[in-house]
Amino acid sequence: MAKSNSVFFCKECGHESAKWMGQCPGCGMWNSFVEEKVSSTKKSAVIKRQEVASQITKLSDVSITTEDRNTTGIGELDRVLGGGIVKGCLCLVGGDPGIGKSTLLLQMCKNLVEKGQDVLYVSGEESVMQIKMRADRLGHFKGDLSLLSETSLETVMAAITTHKPQVVIIDSIQTMVSENVDSAPGSVSQVRETTASLMKVAKGYGISVFIVGHVTKEGVVAGPKVLEHMVDTVLYFEGDNQASYRILRANKNRFGSTNEIGVFQMEAEGLVEVTNPSEYMLDGKPEDAAGSVVTCTIEGTRTILIEVQALVCQTSFSLPRRTAAGTDYNRVNLLLAVLEKRMGMQLSGCDAYVNVAGGMKVSEPSLDLAIVAALMSSYKNRSVDCKTIVFGEVGLAGEIRAVGGALQRINEAVKLGFDTFIIPKANMKSVTALEGVKIYPIENIRQLSDII
Ligand code: TYD
Ligand code: MG
Repeated sequence: MAKSNSVFFCKECGHESAKWMGQCPGCGMWNSFVEEKVSSTKKSAVIKRQEVASQITKLSDVSITTEDRNTTGIGELDRVLGGGIVKGCLCLVGGDPGIGKSTLLLQMCKNLVEKGQDVLYVSGEESVMQIKMRADRLGHFKGDLSLLSETSLETVMAAITTHKPQVVIIDSIQTMVSENVDSAPGSVSQVRETTASLMKVAKGYGISVFIVGHVTKEGVVAGPKVLEHMVDTVLYFEGDNQASYRILRANKNRFGSTNEIGVFQMEAEGLVEVTNPSEYMLDGKPEDAAGSVVTCTIEGTRTILIEVQALVCQTSFSLPRRTAAGTDYNRVNLLLAVLEKRMGMQLSGCDAYVNVAGGMKVSEPSLDLAIVAALMSSYKNRSVDCKTIVFGEVGLAGEIRAVGGALQRINEAVKLGFDTFIIPKANMKSVTALEGVKIYPIENIRQLSDII
């Protein structure tokens, strides 16, 4: 007999508990538990013995067909996916509402249908007319795209299994409802049930499925974190809603690297790829301003030049204010402490603001030296030469440690006209002399202060 029980789920990570808890033991979030009704009708748990035997395969019997990638025609997206769409993969595209997930996927559909592929776009948020309006903004569709405006999972599944398209887009998972689950759309159990059903068709029929998931800080809908472990690929679309750049990042990828990023710019006619992000990130950099330093980071296989800005000023509070945008707050505090202790700078009486310009989020340790240089420059009110690149990791004793890919970073910066480099001395082994390029190898932050 069907019996309805209450279970509590964490909205952030999907942790399940029989009772309500203030803090989730899974992810540490406060106040994230919500009550949901689950019906406990169990399907017959008895699995026939013959069935089990038929599911087992010997490793040696499995033949590998060369995994052929379906390229999307959007270079930046292909790169993040690991070379294109894998047949039968389940891919989650997460991001804040309004960041451009639907636009990106519709642009992908446009390219796929142009190649003559059968693509189904299921929207639970927009009517077919609204999708058409968006499609018109993106330009003329040369092929024909199948549309379905529907929120019932059962109807969507029926459409997929009869139609059998090559690629399906579900926009968004939080709007889909399954009749088998009692709870509201967007709740943890709904989202999980829907994803599990989609996974079955993806693997069973070899259909590539893209699921859109809104990231929600507060509110009643479950975040995409709940499904991360179920899907093959997790892509996050991030960026500032106000600024036009968007960064696509792979958080998990069973078929490719997770280090790759794709950079886009939102324009009136959709998303445009930014193939040279360095130029874009340095756009508008002030010349010879104190507190502005350029560094070179490596994201996946790409080197990107970014500007690090710092502002150090006398505080008018008893407790100085510190902020870090685009980088780790604790790391900035640590570097401030290193500067105070090793360089004797009186930073405890100063507010310090650090910002990675261009909206990139960088967690690479090579950024340390640039942050230190920017803080020093702003503190002394002396500018760093605008053709200088600074990178290196800073240790607690004020020592500068080696970072990976030094030569790759230098080569990228030289291409963009930089000619002076302040780098860790330990990296000099791998760096060859280049014509017209001045390199300052340094061992500790004291030497950095002498140079700038
Ligand atoms: P959208 O793809 O609807 O976001 P999401 O699906 O992630 O919620 O993007 C919506 C935003 O993008 C909206 O603010 C308008 C803007 N936009 C453009 O600037 N140009 C365009 O061509 C399109 C289609 C949208
Ligand atoms: Mg959308």
